[in-house]
Amino acid sequence: MRAAASRPPRHVLAAVLAAVALLAACAPDRPGRIGGDDAAIEGLAPTPPMGWNSWNTFGCNITEQTVRAQADALVASGLREAGYRYVIVDDCWSADQRAADGTLQADPRRFPSGMAALGEYLHDRGLRFGLYSGASDKTCTQYLGDRPGATGSRGHERRDAATFASWQVDYLKYDWCSSDSDHDGQVEAFTAMRDAIRDTGRPIVYSINPNSGIAGSVPGADFDWGGVATMTRITNDITPAWSTNGDDSDAQGILDIVDAAAPLASRVRPSSFNDPDMLVVGVDGNPGLTTAQQRTQMSMWAMMAAPLIAGNDLTHMSSETVDLLRNRAIIAIDQDQRVSAGAPVGNDPEIWSRAIGDKGLVVSLTNRSDHPRRMSVTMASLGLVGDKTVNAIDAWTGRRYQASKGEITAPVGVGDTVLLQIV
Ligand code: GLA
Repeated sequence: MRAAASRPPRHVLAAVLAAVALLAACAPDRPGRIGGDDAAIEGLAPTPPMGWNSWNTFGCNITEQTVRAQADALVASGLREAGYRYVIVDDCWSADQRAADGTLQADPRRFPSGMAALGEYLHDRGLRFGLYSGASDKTCTQYLGDRPGATGSRGHERRDAATFASWQVDYLKYDWCSSDSDHDGQVEAFTAMRDAIRDTGRPIVYSINPNSGIAGSVPGADFDWGGVATMTRITNDITPAWSTNGDDSDAQGILDIVDAAAPLASRVRPSSFNDPDMLVVGVDGNPGLTTAQQRTQMSMWAMMAAPLIAGNDLTHMSSETVDLLRNRAIIAIDQDQRVSAGAPVGNDPEIWSRAIGDKGLVVSLTNRSDHPRRMSVTMASLGLVGDKTVNAIDAWTGRRYQASKGEITAPVGVGDTVLLQIV
């Protein structure tokens, strides 16, 4: 009786339940989130953008001839048809100073035909046009003293966004590059450019980097910029290395970035992607990457639903590089319409799973050790329990596997990744 007497009336219970449900719906399931649920820029990038960026191979040695040659190679190699559409001209395209009326202008030596003409060249070939700007008063090379001037877009957002739109720009890489990591300042600066892009009415992919220039700090990983940007860099710059072992906070290897991305999967949704930086497939390094390690980069970028932005010299590619970049099975995983990013299974950094389509699943097994070995994943850890036999196909080789005693086991080479599509 006492229990019955203290029980709240049914309508009160219903109200409490409704309030709890409402709170749950409003609760930030994305910790550290900044933007709202709307896409930063409507109407583009339902799946991760794909393309090529000039920085990792050419740095400041970029000219209109170089970009045109890369664009031609993108077409001739079949990479455009595979989905690589955005050609992004990174830092150093602009003149050191703005025009007298404050408009950004192309460097007359490097881009004598102007940026609108370059955009036309790209569009004529079924490609899209990307440009870079700085989110402070300087671009990154200017901030680092590698070239003169202060042509960053801070305080010029509306004018610059209008200029980019008038040049038919489709993608803006917007780089913080300053050791001043004041968070409120970053939110203001990145939001101001988002609003300026929105006001142009042109669907421009908005790719931000809140990290560069900030040694030892990765604020792109600390905050969820979904709603502010289409894609957000989550680490400092990539270098063609397996790992920098934390020795170099300014340059991350593949494993460093994979581990940084692991806890951030829930941020990924259509039009809002974590950006683990460019592909280093086919990019020379010292000591550089083995083919297996490059296969791992492609695999894990696909597992993350990451933008695939090549950074190699497309005019001098080995057939192996082309095959890695153009692999249709891997691109299909990356571009899956469900846009559900993968994450480690349990706490094992070598084994990730990603939900695909309506009820598909892909599992990656990465061998981080220094010897070839057999790696196993249990069906129970994947939530696959029941009587049905589970089969899998390696997306790279087409090799078939079958679960035995509740697990699938595959041989994995040093630095390599097997991508098991559960069927
Ligand atoms: C920063 C970025 C790089 C590149 C350079 C250009 O380092 O992180 O990706 O854009 O600036 O100066």
